[in-house]
Amino acid sequence: MKIFITGGHGQLGRDVNTLLSKEHNVVSLGSKELDISSRAAVESVIRKERPDVLINCAAYTAVDNCETEKDQAFAVNAKGPENLAIAMEVIAGRLIHISTDYVFDGNKAANENYIESDPTAPLSVYGQSKLAGEEAISVHSSNHLILRTAWLYGIKGNNFLKTMLKLALTDSTRELKVVNDQFGSLTWTATLARQTEAVLSNTMQGIAHATAEDASTWYEGACYFLDAMAIPYNISPCTTKEYPTPAHRPANSILENNRLKQAGLSVFKTWQEDIDHFVKLYKKELIKEATPH
Ligand SMILES: NC(=O)c1ccc[n+]([C@@H]2O[C@H](COP(=O)([O-])OP(=O)(O)OC[C@H]3O[C@@H](n4cnc5c(N)ncnc54)[C@H](OP(=O)(O)O)[C@@H]3O)[C@@H](O)[C@H]2O)c1
Repeated sequence: MKIFITGGHGQLGRDVNTLLSKEHNVVSLGSKELDISSRAAVESVIRKERPDVLINCAAYTAVDNCETEKDQAFAVNAKGPENLAIAMEVIAGRLIHISTDYVFDGNKAANENYIESDPTAPLSVYGQSKLAGEEAISVHSSNHLILRTAWLYGIKGNNFLKTMLKLALTDSTRELKVVNDQFGSLTWTATLARQTEAVLSNTMQGIAHATAEDASTWYEGACYFLDAMAIPYNISPCTTKEYPTPAHRPANSILENNRLKQAGLSVFKTWQEDIDHFVKLYKKELIKEATPH
């Protein structure tokens, strides 16, 4: 199968490329090679490459910066997917797009997970721009699957777990406050890449939630990861109010992989099992990268 990856240099894009290149003919481009917000550039590359499936891992993911960079957020997260959907429709290809838990307002009770048909109500510009991307795809593509994921971490690129490790290694005695009233599922990009592979040629259409099973707060996730790494730390829980950020984030970000499970397609394990596996594979590399020089 010929597969085209956009945002190929991001943390998810790299893992998708590594996995799919084993079995498929993959073309993976970063933002410098293809800017998805340019309709002309997208049309020209897709017409030339004619992939069977396009996997869009590109996004403007700096959630707080989106609050002040609204035009840029919408250009990449809304116009970009629209351009890809239109170009793939012309060649009758399938579009797999990655979206986010931040399309919800998080006001459901903490023990109630969000399913695909729940009403969306983003709290942030990032969430609004990603929702606009979902809507554009549903209008312009007759063969697409949108995988909504959350709280990603992987071995390539920057993420919350790597930040926690870096801070703990810099000074394990310095107290760090980490938010303990937002709930979600830390999701490994390598597992999401496997999920993407599992739906490549499936005919499922629309939106499917795609996150690790079970949930934690950011505080619980950080402690679990640093315990697994056997790194000393001094982390205390705090509330969202005590740690204000430019973008508002949902208190409940827990997604239920309802559709993938019903179709027997979900590859996800618990977030704890994936962190254990991640640490087992990459402990040395993670410490080397995060150690101050
Ligand atoms: N990270 C999370 O916690 C999280 C949570 C929920 C959903 N998601 C979604 O998951 C997907 C993958 O996220 P990620 O964590 O892998 O993000 P990432 O590491 O930030 O990668 C995103 C990539 O998109 C590229 N990009 C930005 N603007 C572009 C443009 N105009 N044209 C083409 N490429 C562009 C970036 O390239 P440059 O670096 O060159 O700009 C970057 O390599 C995204 O759709 C994101 O919204 C992420």
